[in-house]
Amino acid sequence: MESSSTKACFLFWALLASFSSLNSVHCQGKIFSVVKFGAVADGKTDIAQALSKAWKGACSSIGGTVFVPKGTYSVGDITFEGPCNGATHFRLEGMLVANSNSNSHSSGLDSWIAFHNIIGFTLYGNGTFQGQGKSSWGRPESNGHRKTSLKLRIQHGVVRDIHSVDSEMFHFHVHDSDDLLLQNIHITAPEDSPNTDGIHIGNSKDVRIEGASIATGDDCVSIGSGNTNITVSRVDCGPGHGISIGSLGKYEDERDVNGIIVSDCTFRDTDNGVRIKTWAPSKSAATLSDVKFINIQVENTKNPILIDQYYCSNYPCKHNGESSIKIRDVKFIGVKGKSASEVGVNVQCSDSYPCEDIEFTGLDLTMAGSGAPTTASCSNAGGVFLGPGQVPSNCS
Ligand SMILES: *[C@@H]1O[C@H](CO)[C@@H](O)[C@H](O)[C@H]1NC(C)=O
Ligand SMILES: *[C@@H]1O[C@H](CO)[C@@H](O)[C@H](O)[C@H]1NC(C)=O
Repeated sequence: MESSSTKACFLFWALLASFSSLNSVHCQGKIFSVVKFGAVADGKTDIAQALSKAWKGACSSIGGTVFVPKGTYSVGDITFEGPCNGATHFRLEGMLVANSNSNSHSSGLDSWIAFHNIIGFTLYGNGTFQGQGKSSWGRPESNGHRKTSLKLRIQHGVVRDIHSVDSEMFHFHVHDSDDLLLQNIHITAPEDSPNTDGIHIGNSKDVRIEGASIATGDDCVSIGSGNTNITVSRVDCGPGHGISIGSLGKYEDERDVNGIIVSDCTFRDTDNGVRIKTWAPSKSAATLSDVKFINIQVENTKNPILIDQYYCSNYPCKHNGESSIKIRDVKFIGVKGKSASEVGVNVQCSDSYPCEDIEFTGLDLTMAGSGAPTTASCSNAGGVFLGPGQVPSNCS
């Protein structure tokens, strides 16, 4: 029995590895429950060793699954390393709680939990990663870096139904990944928690976020340097800083970003709706192009549409120069709802690299409370408002 299902799994995985697209990897082999490896659900005993052993088993079998059943488990920093012998799964039904007293927590890793270099991977279940970030948020950065809760470097993967709560820094950091679907993800942290981005994506391609509820202290989703073909849909964001492309230009060697679609998202009580942010001056020159924001609903959002090429995160900002990030071909289609400020559309592009082909269609942004029309403030914007009856309808 088992050998035939193992064989089927292997064939499935081989197919997966040779064609590069997948929606779900449901090729189940052997199950490696952490409880069998000694994990105790008392919320105190560190289960890193049990998890490592379960991972070793799942990763070396074909289609193996690490299983964390219901219960609360403490765990220090841990990296689940690939490549594995076949597709590998991780099913979380319980709650993993970050153990910041473990030796591994001061080991210099920049993440609590990392899934690294895995080809063919599913992380699923209605379980929770509790990052216990609270005690770190007030700490100066110099006094030990805050950690990302979940760092993912995956080729061909799915993350589904997972909850992440109170990360020290980012909740999810997807990097150097290819063909990854994040579906029905739930993220919560307090509105005043610093740098707790919901999902940050860098240097990746063909990544899709489909359905998420994100309430956090920084960007709900942020799309950084080197990304191609990233789709974000049905995200409910708020509180938080909105969905951002950037920041770009902070570091040297940043790469172009293109092919970004953000659609069917809602923003409630957020600082921003949809935003592009680049540093001035910037340490690298790159192009951001082919971006669409479609069907966006805002409710009491300060900056529903913002292109800020004078971004900095430490106020007051000193700008001795212009951004050298070129922004081209960005469409805002059907951005509607209530703005918390008078300026519904704010487009401040670089003096040295003015924006090109910025298009607005079907805007309907009025002020929360009064219902008065919002305005558009533009500089170096190269923008056009297409079609009649938009609010706002032109740059003032
Ligand atoms: C998680 O919960 C959702 C909705 O309650 C359910 O549809 C889904 O099957 C659950 N996932 C797992 C792996 O149990
Ligand atoms: C973009 O990524 C999706 C997966 O999210 C994939 O199905 C699609 O083929 C990719 N498009 C291109 C042009 O590569």
